[in-house]
Amino acid sequence: MIHRSYFLFTVLLPLATIPAAAGNAIRDDLDPKQQAAVEKVLTLPKTFSQAESFEAMTGGATTRRETNLGRQAYSRFLSNLNSADEQLAALGNALFRKSWVAAPASTHSSDGLGPVFNARSCQGCHIKDGRGTVPLEGGFDPTFLLKFPIAHRTLGAQLQTAAVTGLSAEGRYQTFYHQREFTYPDGAIKELRHPEYVVYDENGEPVTMGVSPRMAPAVFGLGLVDAIHIADRVRLSDEHDANADGISGVLPWTGAGPGRYAWKLQNTSLRQQSGDAFSHDMGLSSAAFPAHYGDCTPSQLSCRAGVDGADPKEGVEVTQLMMDLVESYLLSLAPPKRRDVSDPKVLYGKSRFYEFKCHSCHHPKFVTRADYPKKALRYQLIWPYSDFLLHDMGSDLADGVGSSEWRTPPLWGIGYSKIVNPLATFLHDGRARDLEEAILWHAGEAEDAKQRFTLAPVQQRAALIRFLESL
Ligand code: HEC
Ligand code: HEC
Repeated sequence: MIHRSYFLFTVLLPLATIPAAAGNAIRDDLDPKQQAAVEKVLTLPKTFSQAESFEAMTGGATTRRETNLGRQAYSRFLSNLNSADEQLAALGNALFRKSWVAAPASTHSSDGLGPVFNARSCQGCHIKDGRGTVPLEGGFDPTFLLKFPIAHRTLGAQLQTAAVTGLSAEGRYQTFYHQREFTYPDGAIKELRHPEYVVYDENGEPVTMGVSPRMAPAVFGLGLVDAIHIADRVRLSDEHDANADGISGVLPWTGAGPGRYAWKLQNTSLRQQSGDAFSHDMGLSSAAFPAHYGDCTPSQLSCRAGVDGADPKEGVEVTQLMMDLVESYLLSLAPPKRRDVSDPKVLYGKSRFYEFKCHSCHHPKFVTRADYPKKALRYQLIWPYSDFLLHDMGSDLADGVGSSEWRTPPLWGIGYSKIVNPLATFLHDGRARDLEEAILWHAGEAEDAKQRFTLAPVQQRAALIRFLESL
């Protein structure tokens, strides 16, 4: 299935920006012997009577080995990190948690927030390094973002729902959930909810422009994602569904290279993603996003005139050193170890995962680049359960501008979601209150997989969920 808007996009792009598939599909970091070894270890399982070798070690040698990580499951550093890098990551952690304040303030290195913003700290949205929360019925949630994919003339790229003293926030929104029932072929019923957002500007006037809702994803394991060789994702992508399996993974390319992060894979590097967050979510300037007023448009005069907290030497609020430290932090968070890999019910659920073809998008494993700059992340067998590609998930999951293309979220660590944060929910807009609901919303390219799940007897469905909980 080719998503129409993407098709147009491809045709309109100058040819040079389309990756030359053949050249990009080769692992230039491996010698022939290593290539053979990698191919062998990446073979998909055919039997499920016992766990695969190293299956429990989600992030290879980086994996935290503790079996009961509790609420810290996403917050531990790579277990093979050297002490110099660990110190940098610890300083980065302080910045990730730091609560920024409005300028001017006595704590000069922490000021410059806003003038408009969504939250004061990174950790404020990425709760305990895990996912954020979503609005309750009738309400709004400060960790949850509404973006304007087609920039709003006054409000810019995103709705900022808070402002420094003396200025009003850009607006507010209310969330309404429409209930609907899903009836399985065997008669079982599951309640689902579908969100609707009603947006108001600062004067209480309705904003009718289409919004794209985004729940904050977890931020662990992202260094390993950076270390995945692009050739592996190029080989998995199948833009025009050449193999006719109904699934056409798209690898988007931005000016800066292949997309790696966020729900639309619109960001290429952790640095770019962090600069974007400082600018749009907190109103803080950095080298790549130098406007002190963040997302304020020329018509937002008082916002543009706000006081900034720029560093006198670098002329921005977030210095190069701070950006380096935040990047070190994001590169250093380890995925948690799998639990119960050899439990017969988990193994049976795993066999259903393959039987239902969930793995066509939730691709189980990769071996990271042998030449990745950070040694701890190099040449690791990792199990993220994602192809890191975009898929058309059907109109029910489309955002307010009709885009239903989302990246396959990695499923590693998903079993810890509600342990880390009891309010955690699933999918890009957090509408799914549990894993079963998340599966039932799968449509578009994932319609066949969903149908295999819904047609299976209840014991098989329960085993599949049990497998997901072990991740
Ligand atoms: C207001 C809430 C909020 C704040 C504050 C925030 N984020 Fe995020 N973050 C999000 C949301 C929502 C997304 C998903 C955005 C999208 O898909 O467009 C995201 C995505 C990310 C990702 C990509 C994760 C992935 O799996 O691809 C990283 C990394 C990240 N944020 C880091 C940061 C850092 C670093 C900071 C602080 C400088 C920060 N965030 C501040 C809400 C927030
Ligand atoms: C065609 C590709 C595709 C197939 C096949 C597929 N998924 Fe997904 N999956 C996705 C995408 C894309 C999303 C994100 C959709 C969104 O957020 O709107 C997703 C989201 C999820 C989530 C929620 C993750 C989170 O972090 O919130 C779970 C759980 C999940 N899938 C499990 C499964 C299972 C189990 C199967 C097999 C029955 C399956 N998926 C088949 C692409 C796929």
